[in-house]
Amino acid sequence: MKAIIGGTGVDALDGIPLKRTMVQTLYGEVELFVGDRLVFLPRHGSSHSLPPHLINYRANVAALKDLGVDEAIGIYAVGSISQALSPGEIGIVSDFVDFTGGGREHTFYTGGESGVHHISMDDVFDALLRERMSNLAPNLKDAGVYVCTNGPRLETKAEINLYGRLGCDVVGMTLATEVSLLKEADIRCLALAYSINWAAGVEQANVSFIGDEQIAVLKAEMTHLCCKALLSCSN
Ligand code: HPA
Repeated sequence: MKAIIGGTGVDALDGIPLKRTMVQTLYGEVELFVGDRLVFLPRHGSSHSLPPHLINYRANVAALKDLGVDEAIGIYAVGSISQALSPGEIGIVSDFVDFTGGGREHTFYTGGESGVHHISMDDVFDALLRERMSNLAPNLKDAGVYVCTNGPRLETKAEINLYGRLGCDVVGMTLATEVSLLKEADIRCLALAYSINWAAGVEQANVSFIGDEQIAVLKAEMTHLCCKALLSCSN
């Protein structure tokens, strides 16, 4: 089974019928949209009711694992810090830096019965999935390094300036927590970022966002690419 993790409001992907399904996990109940070979998980809940720091990431990833998911592609809205990815562009994320501060439920390994494990993050994203995606869409940018903040507030100009100096290219509020748990669950993953603004203090005096129509077009392109990349192999 393959998964796309993204925003809200998807009940069919590229004509693939999906059935709304509730999955009960150790960490809570999750609403997903399940097809024969593909699951769609709206990470914020289907009515986009959860801010990034309150998403139940462990329940989300546990539900995917329970459904037998072995490969997932996450779609992430970001702000642009460097020129790697400009607003309106889609790119593949190469690595991440976690600045969420540790306050989230971000691991399955909490000691006791769950054990103590330190999983490797040497290769965060799956090389084969990346190759498949790049072959499908050679024009995708390399979005570079994603810095994950806790949110829900946007960053100060000084924070973005710091992240830029540290080598971060794009900023968002969800990827690090989600991808860490996918790695712990041994689900191979890839991340597509689409930029919706220049981050604070970059290029423009104030943060302003691209329009909803452009966002809808980018999302449709990404879900289409994800379906093709995930379903083009036989395993
Ligand atoms: N900062 C953090 N998260 C974001 C941004 C941003 O500028 N844009 C989209 N998600």
